Amino acid sequence: MKYIDILEQIKKSEDKRVLIRVDFNVPIQNNKIIDDTRIQSHLPLIRELLKIDAQVILISHLGRPRNREIDFSLLPIAKYLKQHLKTDILLLPKPDTNPQKQKVTLIENIRFFPEETENDIKFAEKLSQFGKFYINDAFAVAHRAHASNCALAKLFSPSYKSLGPLFEHEINMLKKVFVSNSEVHVIIGGAKVKDKINLLNHLIDYVSSIYIGGAMAFTFFKALSYPVGKSLVDYDALMDAKEIIEKCKQKNVSLKLPDNIVATKDIQSDEVIPINMQKKDIKTDMYGVDIDQKTILEWEKSLEKATIIVWNGPIGIYEYPPFKKGTQLLAKAISKQENCITIIGGGDSVAAIKELNLSNKFNHVSTGGGATLAFLENPELPTIMAIRELDL
Ligand code: 3PG
Repeated sequence: MKYIDILEQIKKSEDKRVLIRVDFNVPIQNNKIIDDTRIQSHLPLIRELLKIDAQVILISHLGRPRNREIDFSLLPIAKYLKQHLKTDILLLPKPDTNPQKQKVTLIENIRFFPEETENDIKFAEKLSQFGKFYINDAFAVAHRAHASNCALAKLFSPSYKSLGPLFEHEINMLKKVFVSNSEVHVIIGGAKVKDKINLLNHLIDYVSSIYIGGAMAFTFFKALSYPVGKSLVDYDALMDAKEIIEKCKQKNVSLKLPDNIVATKDIQSDEVIPINMQKKDIKTDMYGVDIDQKTILEWEKSLEKATIIVWNGPIGIYEYPPFKKGTQLLAKAISKQENCITIIGGGDSVAAIKELNLSNKFNHVSTGGGATLAFLENPELPTIMAIRELDL
């Protein structure tokens, strides 16, 4: 069922208990929420349900706790919700007592229960007692087949479950990549090639250009027999990188590696040395750490041809301030592309555009990182299939 249809069902139903899987996995330091974007993106749904008198039971994870660690409690989020929804929130320590007449209930961090990550059916059955309806709005965790977003969804019959509006919007944006006649340009950053092989192989069939940034680029350079100094190379993925290069040639997909990078002799220092990879002048004692402005300018020119741009992952070592410049320049370059759809996902890419106050220059800033990549690799994610067949 679609979200708007389930909303009608809830309106008509006497039993208006709605279980919602959200993703409140936000950064928290000293009990303070550092970035509330994900919580904010779920508030319209919660408000809409409260408006029709529904009883809302929220399920979320926070981090990856090993047991019931206080730092991973959802208490700061319960307080935040109370303030923003202007209603009392019951933070339920365990999903075993069914809260009666409570407008908004938040079940404590669902990962406090090992059954969650085991996709345990018995645990899902326990959770299912909390609602007549089930909505999964947690796109950011769509790539994990866990009890609260997979086994639980399967327990509800089609007329009682749907994806939420955020989830639907996220996948509707990403589905545009698979529409033919589009000039799709995808920029992938990050470190590990091995994790992205299936993604790249799948994308080659749909896109016009693939830009490779981050440490991943050095695995491709190595596969092309360029010197890479001490740069991070995913040796297990060298053969895969060669195959991707070959497949791109065969399918006429332009594979763009950064010709100009910046390197350093010491990752801890802020001294960066511009290197032209084609001149093969990276020294054996240097690490490639970022992409140089020259390449960004070339990429910017090439991006002008795109009708859709998807960017996921930093193209330099973003956590070290001296090496975040390439990612920032790329964010600016994409933000200038006005005649195309721009979709950004992934923690550091999104952080870069927020730091630069560029969020409103993009058509879609995803709440997902890994989920975005997983959807692009295979849109038939188990969590989506548990709700409905995908119509691609
Ligand atoms: C995320 O932040 O990417 C999601 O909340 C998923 O979290 P996880 O990687 O711990 O499963």
